[in-house]
Amino acid sequence: MVKLEWLDRYSIGIEQIDDDHKNILQIMRNVEKAIKSRDFELCTSLLDDLVALATTHFQNEEQFLAESSYPYIEEHIRYHQELLLKISEAKNSCDKINNPVDTEDIFNRMAEFLIEDMIAGDLHFKSYFESRSVE
Ligand SMILES: [Fe+2]
Ligand SMILES: [Fe+2]
Repeated sequence: MVKLEWLDRYSIGIEQIDDDHKNILQIMRNVEKAIKSRDFELCTSLLDDLVALATTHFQNEEQFLAESSYPYIEEHIRYHQELLLKISEAKNSCDKINNPVDTEDIFNRMAEFLIEDMIAGDLHFKSYFESRSVE
């Protein structure tokens, strides 16, 4: 399974965003535990929490990017919409899980896109702001 630990290189340097990302990771760790103990009811309810947290997190992040006049905000908003769709898909499949192979596969897909949001997605605006502050 994908390792779900917080690494310093994930840090964006904006406390609220970093805290949200840490909370998202914590929910994922709980989902992992629920899957391992085959508690799919808990898994589904944790994924509901994840949808709620991700929705608020994306809204706050988009507001921050808008206030900072980030030029690639449209792309980032679209990216968030895709991520939310993927979380909902994962939740729907979690409802229908009936064997451990499926479960692990679904979890790995979720963990991958979660980490993608933080590394591939948000590190784009981190490097943008960093390069702007040296100008
Ligand atoms: Fe984010
Ligand atoms: Fe983001």
